[in-house]
This record gives sequence, structure tokens and C-alpha cells, in this order.
Amino acid sequence: MSKHQVLVLHGPNLNLLGSREPEIYGHQTLDDINESLVNLGAELGVSVNAQQSNHEGVLIDTIQAARTDGTKAIIINPGAFTHTSVAILDALNAFAGQVIEVHLSNVHKREAFRHHSYVSQRADGVIVGLGARGYELALRALVA
Ligand code: DQA
Repeated sequence: MSKHQVLVLHGPNLNLLGSREPEIYGHQTLDDINESLVNLGAELGVSVNAQQSNHEGVLIDTIQAARTDGTKAIIINPGAFTHTSVAILDALNAFAGQVIEVHLSNVHKREAFRHHSYVSQRADGVIVGLGARGYELALRALVA
């Protein structure tokens, strides 16, 4: 059983945060974001495990592992897989805990292909357009 209660899962290209289109995605690196989430978790009394992958199958394996390792909730930014992946939706549907979907940018203000999310059909909550703060708010909402 994992000692982590909240899995924060970042999808493709989010490893480039800080240098990738900073005018859209901000200047914070993924390490900065993850470090503040782990610290906030400690403050709130929950353990946070942050993972990133560029590979759909690895993200699915990680979600599947969360079904049985004690994970209570998943905060997920599936990156571009948001708009394409029925397989990630299916994996999340097989997870019994809470799911919050986060996007750094306001996807609804952007290209039409970003307006649809498969993951939103499963998510208990969705936060878009608030930058890295969205992850923090998701974690606070889960604990509340
Ligand atoms: C994103 C939005 C997606 O459309 C995009 O493909 C990403 C990042 C966001 O956090 O704003 O990679 O999920």
C-alpha cells in the first residue's frame, strides 16, 4: 500500500514547463509546482505523489496502480491526451476515488480542438485557466 493519498499526474510536454510557451503556461517549472504541492500537502496533512509521463500507456499504468495502492484521489492534467484519450477516461472510470482535472491555460479560450475533454466526463471537478494555482486549489478542495 502506497503511503501517498493524493496522486498528481501530469501528462505529455508538462515536463517542459517554465520554458514551454511561458506566455501560456507560466514560468514555474514542473519541479517548482510539485515541490509546492508536496509542501502544501504536508501542511494539510495529506501525502502527495507527483508523476509525469509523455506516454499514454505509462499514465494509464499509473492510474491503474492507484486503484489498489491506497491512493484516495487523483489530480490530473492529461495535457493533449485530454482531448484524445478514451483510454485515459476508461482508466479513470476504473478508479474509485475522487478525480480533479486541472489545466493551466483556459482551454475554452483557445483552439476549438481544446474545448472538448474526455476526462471531464469522469472528473468530480475541473479547474482551468488559473495556472499552477489550479493544482493548489484542487488539493485544498480535496482535503476540504
Ligand atoms: C493543457 C491544455 C492542453 O490543451 C495542452 O495540450 C497541454 C496543457 C493545460 O494545462 O493548459 O499540454 O492541459
